[in-house]
Amino acid sequence: DGKLCQWEGDMQEVYSPIYTKTSQGLSKKFIGKYPLLTEKEAMEALKSALNAYDEGRGQWPTMAVADRIKHVEEFAFRFKEKKKEVVNLLMWEICKSYEDSLKEFDRTVEYIMDTIDAMKDLDRISSRFVIEDGVIAQIRRSPLGVVMCMGPYNYPLNETFTTLIPALIMGNTVILKPPKMGVLLHRPILSIFKDCFPKGVVNTIYGQGQQVVAPIIASGKVNVLAFIGSSEVADILRKQHPKPHRLRCVLGLESKNAAIILPDVDLNMTVKECILGTLSFNGQRCTALKILFVHSDIIDAFLDKFANEIDRLKVGMPWETNVNITPIPSNDRIKYLEKLIQDARDLGANIINNKGGIIKESLFYPTVLYPVNDKMKIYHEEQFGPVIPVVPFDDIEIPTRYIIESNYGQQVSLFAKDPDIISKLIDSLVNQVCRVNINSQCQRGPDVFPFTGRKDSAEGTLSVSDALRAFSIRTLVAAKEN
Ligand code: G3H
Repeated sequence: DGKLCQWEGDMQEVYSPIYTKTSQGLSKKFIGKYPLLTEKEAMEALKSALNAYDEGRGQWPTMAVADRIKHVEEFAFRFKEKKKEVVNLLMWEICKSYEDSLKEFDRTVEYIMDTIDAMKDLDRISSRFVIEDGVIAQIRRSPLGVVMCMGPYNYPLNETFTTLIPALIMGNTVILKPPKMGVLLHRPILSIFKDCFPKGVVNTIYGQGQQVVAPIIASGKVNVLAFIGSSEVADILRKQHPKPHRLRCVLGLESKNAAIILPDVDLNMTVKECILGTLSFNGQRCTALKILFVHSDIIDAFLDKFANEIDRLKVGMPWETNVNITPIPSNDRIKYLEKLIQDARDLGANIINNKGGIIKESLFYPTVLYPVNDKMKIYHEEQFGPVIPVVPFDDIEIPTRYIIESNYGQQVSLFAKDPDIISKLIDSLVNQVCRVNINSQCQRGPDVFPFTGRKDSAEGTLSVSDALRAFSIRTLVAAKEN
């Protein structure tokens, strides 16, 4: 209801993780602040979402779909005006390059517009009547209630809106909790939510998860948890609900996506795709390639080219032209990556690229580790950063077993030319993961494609139309023909 637009309570100051030179030496720039809510204030947000939903009788859940769409269209129009401000914050707060920040913004706008189109299609189907065995019925898609939306720091805008927009357009009311890093860009959007949606439909909360999220979920009044982030946190959140079976979860979680590289590949293309897959946004993507299995017949040629190309990448600040590697926004992540490297080296792996292992302030140079084996932590754990483990293999059973035994099951990339081998592997791999990429890196897009995973990688399916289904339930109005 606009309270946060004129907030007078406690504020949390935010400093950029990027070091800048000042006359006093290196320092971190102050980039803004955000409201720090107490538990009581967070619970008011829940109350507001519940009131607006009003057990399904509120103005928003009962509004004609065409009218809800108008609100979302108005929101999209106003949101586009915030591009410059949001892109700037993406660079300073999470260190995303200017080009990638622009892409995140544009992709989000496109996602909103595609969701509107998909909702129009769904509505056309839903308003049809069917007659079966003397029963005339209208099959509808109805909202579920209050949705808690929480996005991750690596896509703080896109992956929050990925759940927020479909949840809203389906008639749910929403509590939005921005990630701790990537929180500031949600402030300029607050006033647009206030202007474009009825009171209580979108409620943003800020603060410590334990203080502001836990009590809301523990109230048992949230119907859907839409969370993109770590598998461990998803488990904790779900367990906070007094009746977890009543909480629908739409989750996008961790992965350990593997590339399998066979001897007959086009080496230039494979190296290019593997660099994009492992190092786009410094490897901080749930969809990143996180381990490379390379056939022994091609390992020397592959490593030589891969290491050389990686050392040629431009490492620098987000605003520099054509920059490939930017600072890592979290110190803890830097320490974790260092430990993974040390562990692998202690157990026999080497850093094989010349610039590997260099760390300058928050700039972490991409580091290729070889040969990696199953005794090393990096073989199993999701590094979420620019450290790349390479495993040699002779028998295809090695990478296949790895994928079968992994705790994760999002995607795999298969690099090969022989169509018979490719087709055989696709048939077995597609039963282990949810996307098999042939001669290309792993990725989520295009966003109209289903995006999900097996095991600890996901629950429910995202994408434009799948998300509409995820945030709704099929209901029926049926009458007997008399
Ligand atoms: O972090 C997970 C994102 O959904 C990745 O999306 O593959 O388009 O970078 P992307």
